[in-house]
Amino acid sequence: MESVNDYYSAIQLRSDRWSALREATEALTLGGSERQMLKLRERVQALLDSLSVIEPYWAFPGMAAFEHMRRQFEHGSYDDLSYTTHRILRALTTGAYRRRHIPLDRDSLEPDENDDEAMLSPEARALTKPYFEVMIVDQVNEQQERWLKHNMERMRRPEDPFLYESVVVSSLEDALMGVLFNHNIQAIVVRPGLTLRSKFNMPLLKRYLAGAGGQDDLKGIDPHNYGPELCRLVAEVRPELDAYLVTDRSVEDIAGLDLGICRRVFYNQEDFMELHLNILRGVQSRYKTPFFTALTEYSKQPTGVFHAMPISRGKSITRSHWIQDMGAFYGPNIFLAETSATSGGLDSLLEPHGPIKQAQELAARAFGSKQTFFATNGTSTCNKIVVQALIRPGDIVLVDRDCHKSHHYGMVLAGAQVSYLDSYPLDEFSMYGAVPIKEIKHRLLELKAAGKLDRVRMLLLTNCTFDGIVYNVERIMEECLAIKPDLIFLWDEAWFAFARFNPTYRHRTAMNAANTLRVRLRSDEHAAAYERQQAELKDADDETLLNTRLIPPPTARVRTYATQSTHKTLTALRQGSMIHVNDQDFKGEVEQSFHEAYMTHTSTSPNYQIIASLDVGRRQVELEGFEFVQRQVEAAMAMRRAIGTHPLLQKYFKVLTAGDMIPSEYRESGVSAYYSTDQGWTEIWDAWERDEFVLDATRVTLAVGGTGWDGDTFKTDILMDRYGIQINKTSRNTVLFMTNIGTTRSSVAYLIEVLVEIAKELDDLIDDASRMEKLSFERRVKGLMEDLPPLPDFSRFHDAFRADNGTPEGDIRSAFFLAYGEENCDYLELNGSLKAAMERGEEIVSASFIIPYPPGFPILVPGQVISNEILDFMRALDVNEIHGYRPDLGLRVFTQEALDKHAGTGLSHAAE
Ligand SMILES: Cc1ncc(COP(=O)(O)O)c(C=O)c1O
Repeated sequence: MESVNDYYSAIQLRSDRWSALREATEALTLGGSERQMLKLRERVQALLDSLSVIEPYWAFPGMAAFEHMRRQFEHGSYDDLSYTTHRILRALTTGAYRRRHIPLDRDSLEPDENDDEAMLSPEARALTKPYFEVMIVDQVNEQQERWLKHNMERMRRPEDPFLYESVVVSSLEDALMGVLFNHNIQAIVVRPGLTLRSKFNMPLLKRYLAGAGGQDDLKGIDPHNYGPELCRLVAEVRPELDAYLVTDRSVEDIAGLDLGICRRVFYNQEDFMELHLNILRGVQSRYKTPFFTALTEYSKQPTGVFHAMPISRGKSITRSHWIQDMGAFYGPNIFLAETSATSGGLDSLLEPHGPIKQAQELAARAFGSKQTFFATNGTSTCNKIVVQALIRPGDIVLVDRDCHKSHHYGMVLAGAQVSYLDSYPLDEFSMYGAVPIKEIKHRLLELKAAGKLDRVRMLLLTNCTFDGIVYNVERIMEECLAIKPDLIFLWDEAWFAFARFNPTYRHRTAMNAANTLRVRLRSDEHAAAYERQQAELKDADDETLLNTRLIPPPTARVRTYATQSTHKTLTALRQGSMIHVNDQDFKGEVEQSFHEAYMTHTSTSPNYQIIASLDVGRRQVELEGFEFVQRQVEAAMAMRRAIGTHPLLQKYFKVLTAGDMIPSEYRESGVSAYYSTDQGWTEIWDAWERDEFVLDATRVTLAVGGTGWDGDTFKTDILMDRYGIQINKTSRNTVLFMTNIGTTRSSVAYLIEVLVEIAKELDDLIDDASRMEKLSFERRVKGLMEDLPPLPDFSRFHDAFRADNGTPEGDIRSAFFLAYGEENCDYLELNGSLKAAMERGEEIVSASFIIPYPPGFPILVPGQVISNEILDFMRALDVNEIHGYRPDLGLRVFTQEALDKHAGTGLSHAAE
């Protein structure tokens, strides 16, 4: 039996233990020598013992059935035991227990072995009632437990929209472990008898407690408050759940307490029907999808179409002689659901009052924002909307230079004074990390010293980065607000929508941090801490400020925006994105300009299917986001472990760890890898709580330089062409495997198989290679692993585009439009005229964005002076990989006359 320490997750442990039990019980039925049987019995005993601390948290098969199995074992009824185990495992893997009662004894009717969820047609699956589990927390004996469950079951009515089973645990600890382990739980009923500690000692589950606030924190809870405290603690780890508190205390006693996710308190009453109806209503409020439902209803109504949209109702297709295949491929529903906003009947995205508005409000609840806006053309558009809504020409914006191109274009459109921040470089992998807090504070202090702080409007960062570097969002906002208390934050969470649905990841999302900060800023403890720090820092110099964790004033404003490509990490059609707002001044200051910006960038013909998919995607995460993200993290962890421990794979590949991708000065916890062969799994909570940067485990960067292929060749020629494996990001010597909420254990297994096959082929190739061939291979590997040009920093904007020499911000907009005039530009060749001009000491200024791939971000923006480092970097790359560079002409730069003339117009100072 694999040791518990080999498991990252209790879910995998559970399913593996049941499989092992099935095998062992089947072997028992076959018989054998006395010694063999003894060994088998020991094994079954050990497996049953191991499962006995796991099963109390699940409704199926339930402890009664489990105890029955133990008795079968003790009485030597191996055939019965084997049959029961087989049935349970089958029901667990097919999900049949969610749809019907599973008979476990051999006399019952032979069940349908094909009752596999995956075998049912989508229509049949849509007709089955969704299933969930309710956790009842109370210290009860066996008989009372039966009574409780029986009473809950008695309340079922044929018209109920969902089916649920209950599971009873006795303590606060068990309840916390239960909601983190059993993803079927959607509601929890907290009764007065609960105790504090669990009687089980299961280290793997106890680990979950650490992430739920820590066992030690539970010590000080007043026994009177176990119930309310549990509701509060569950709210921190699974805020989407509903809790119902049954209490024998008075209304006044309970009124002042923080009850977290509690939807309703029952005072001293056993009204099971009321409880049942509340539980169903609670789940229904997450299940409902106002827009998707309205759209399906609309598609069923007969309508005559007299607007300009021939595809609506499929009319232009059904009447066609030539495009029938399109109709056959998509089926009729999509066309029945196509309509135009102007034709009425459904809500309008541009002015929502009905189901779209409601769908957005539900999304705001799910993602923890104050307002949420849907977008049907991707986060590229969301970013431009937010930037335009908040930035006035001349406002200073601090932005990571390796941000997505939509931000650079957003800055151009808004006329921002852009102050680029450099991420720490990872030269050996040709990729950037993220921007250290010191760099951001330094820039703000510099602007403060120059008397420009009032013009600084926004800090814009990408979280997480494409490669999976995650910021400490709360810390950044706190420390920046300490210097500039009304700074606006735009977090580009294009890749991070899923993060909200995992308790550990959630802490590093913009909306969660904003909500935490709002509460903290109002607290007396915070005010006192602020006063204390102010006294300490009275005459502090910048160096001290840079090295101190700064506390913002209680009067600071929380102004946070996040843009998310829902379609990248959750269920939504392509381009389905959301803007989440958590800005205390939104209503007073931004609403109107936001509306204008939204109008500027949103099509008047938004795609209704995308909007519906956002609505359904929201339903999914509120009901099963926790489960899916947990499974995703598990799959990624399994991948890390499998690649990291395979002896053959280690020869050619390496999974990059936090230690490889984040310099140690940003990892206060000292955590450098999630898994290591000698130490097993590392607790990630500590790192995620403290470190300046952490690595998103769901993105697995694999160094492939050891194979002799560069990242792009490995991606295209090997993974894609030979094995049909798709990925989308590479660097010079790495490829990025992204897991998502659809990734399964078997897809991970396939990838490992492929990597092993590639490694074997390489082994064979090298075995048979001549000395020359070997030498050439070694050279290639060295070239990919060692001879990498350093990634250049942002040099500076040319003076013609700067208001003054004091601070580095520049007017990207005027540079961008100056380049529209052909007469203002010239082309210089990288190794010829450009090199010569730089050697003569001339200042050469780029007239366009230059984006080498990798790293895929601009190393030059319009108006930027070309430095020697940038030139060296470009020359070290193959010019075919540089977007914006014309190999036939060279690099587009400004002529000296254009720069002189522009400086003379004072256009760069227009904002002042
Ligand atoms: C960091 C970041 N922001 C924004 C975007 C644009 O998102 P979308 O494809 O939804 O327009 C991307 C796309 O890759 C991205 O990586």
